[in-house]
Parts: sequence; C-alpha cells; structure tokens
Amino acid sequence: MNLKIAVLAGDGIGPEIMEQGVAVMDAVAKKFGHEVEYKEALCGAHAIDEVGDPFPEETFKVCEEADAVLFASVGDPKFDNNPSAKVRPEQGLLAMRKKLGLFANIRPVTTFDCLVHKSPLKDEIVRGADFICIRELTGGMYFGKKQEPQLNAEGVEEALDTNYYTRPEVERILRVGYQYARQRRKHLTVVDKANVLASSRLWRKVAQEIAPEYPDVETDYMYVDNAAMRMIQEPKFFDVMVTENTFGDILTDEGSCITGSMGLLPSASTGSSTPVFEPIHGSWPQGKGLNIANPLAQILSVAMLYEYFDLKEEGAIIRKAVDASLDANVRTPEIQVEGGEKYGTKEVGAWIVDFIKNN
Ligand code: IPM
Ligand code: MN
Repeated sequence: MNLKIAVLAGDGIGPEIMEQGVAVMDAVAKKFGHEVEYKEALCGAHAIDEVGDPFPEETFKVCEEADAVLFASVGDPKFDNNPSAKVRPEQGLLAMRKKLGLFANIRPVTTFDCLVHKSPLKDEIVRGADFICIRELTGGMYFGKKQEPQLNAEGVEEALDTNYYTRPEVERILRVGYQYARQRRKHLTVVDKANVLASSRLWRKVAQEIAPEYPDVETDYMYVDNAAMRMIQEPKFFDVMVTENTFGDILTDEGSCITGSMGLLPSASTGSSTPVFEPIHGSWPQGKGLNIANPLAQILSVAMLYEYFDLKEEGAIIRKAVDASLDANVRTPEIQVEGGEKYGTKEVGAWIVDFIKNN
C-alpha cells in the first residue's frame, strides 16, 4: 500500500515522540512492503512563532492531501497563564478538527496488567478494564457561539459559551458508537446531562429513537456526573461510551489516569476528510528535550493508523512490540520498576524498532 502521511509534531515533547512514532511506522512499512511518504507541517505554538497562525493554510493543505495525519501535541506555557492572548496553540488543534471534519474521537481506555500498580485505583477494580470513549469532536461548547469576557450594559463583566448541537451531529456520532459496540461487547452507554441541559435532551431523544435499530446492542443512559463516579468505582462496567465534546474531554482524562499512565493511550479522530492519529496526552513542556517522555502513546497511535487502513497485522506487530518492551522492563522513568535500568524516549523507540525487525 502507498500511504501519504502528514507529520505534525507540534510543541514540547511532540518532536521527540514523533521521531519514534515515525521510526516505528517505517520499520513496519519495510517489513510489510508498504511505501510511506511523509510530509512535515507546522502546528501549535511554534507555528505561531514562525508564521503567526497555529494551523496555517499550508498545513491544512498538507493534511487534506494526505491519507492520514500523525499528530503529536501542541501547547506552550507562555500561553497558559495569559487569558488575553489573541492566538493560542490549542486553536490550531481545534481548527484542524473543524477543517478536517473530524467529528468522531475514538479514545480507548486500556489497562496494561504490568502497570496496574501505577493506577490510583485498587488492583481488583482496574485490572481488565477496557473500554472506548467515543467523543463528539466538532460541536458543543467548543464551537458554539462565544463571547469573550467583556463588560455588559450594567458594567458587569460577562462571557458566554454555547453548548449547541444539531440532530444530524448527534445522530452520526451515536451511530459511530453503535458500530464500535457491535464489534466489541455490544454494550453502549450514552453519557449526557439530560436532567438539566436541553442539548443533552436532544442527545437522549435521538439515542432513544435509533436504539431499536441496534437490537443486538444493549443501550443504557447515564448522567455525566454519575458516569464520572462509575468510572472509578467500576470501570469494567463500560464497553463503549459515547458523549458530547466537553464531557468527553473531561472523562477521557479521568479514563487515562485510571489506567496508570497517560503516556500510553493513543487516539484516532475520524470524519469527513483525512483521519488524525495522536496520543491523548499533551505537550508536557517540562519534559521537553530531556529524552524522558514516553513514546508509547505515539507509537500506539501508529498502530491505530495502520488498523484504520485495515492493515491488521501491521497494527498487531506494533502492539506486540509494545507489550514486549513493557515485559522486558524497557520503560521510560515514570513507569519503570524500582531498580530497573534507565531508558529514555530514544532507547524505548529503538528497542521497539528492533523487535519489529526481528519478529
Ligand atoms: C484534548 C485536549 C484539547 C481539548 C485541548 C488541547 C484543546 O485537552 O484533546 O483532549 O480540549 O480537546
Ligand atoms: Mn483533553
């Protein structure tokens, strides 16, 4: 297969983990005889620094013309504590999602047995937890009508975000949820706040209407506050969860931390144009340049990318290599066992590349 990949390394640890992601992508391509062509493009804080735009038109073109985007992370502390900054690196990510029509964000929450001890939850609660959060990605408060803080007629400062959803937006993401549920344990949980929010009542109405089309899937409905609680009390309850943009943002951070390491979880965003594969963690500026960032989420994002193109064996060898690296204690510091040898981002990546070559 010929694949054109747009490489958006972004900020912070992004370039370091991307280097390993690309090396793994290459190793797999060689092994299975695929031709991969990479094109790098600017995104995030360094795109603001260089061209004044966190998602420049040129980057959009590179993404549009690619078969897939491999994305690392964006963000820089110089913007975090400046609420009046006019352009922010995160806007680059949001622009990319909107312009590529990436309405479905697939975030698997998978536990690795050998890392269960790193979870803040008790072993018996977290071991074996395995679910997918399907987050709606181009609607809701993120993209609804906004007003930045400003004084109103009474001289009181006010601001506004609108949680706007249309029926087609809700319906298409629910159907993605059902498709995933059908391939898994056939259990879909629709997460909303229908007891309070009108937008959530639309979600629930649409879900109740289409649920009968999927009689093989058990559908249940859960308020988001309850879901947040259930995720730590009984994460194994969930198989596929589908929810709106903001709830999904919050719940997937919770999901990632119960597995023991945020550095291990990949994600895929799909929609009407080029799909994007990226780790769920951020740019971790404090770790930049230190060769300590965990490259596994980026590497597993490459596995998701291959699997998206139905290249199952390619995805499987990456997953096998990642499991083997963990078993061999070839791990970055945050998940290394006590007394274990020191491995950095580069060394973990190189070990995985070697494993793929030799297995
Ligand atoms: C995520 C991130 C983004 C989001 C930020 C960086 C804009 O937290 O992908 O979850 O809020 O969607
Ligand atoms: Mn988030």
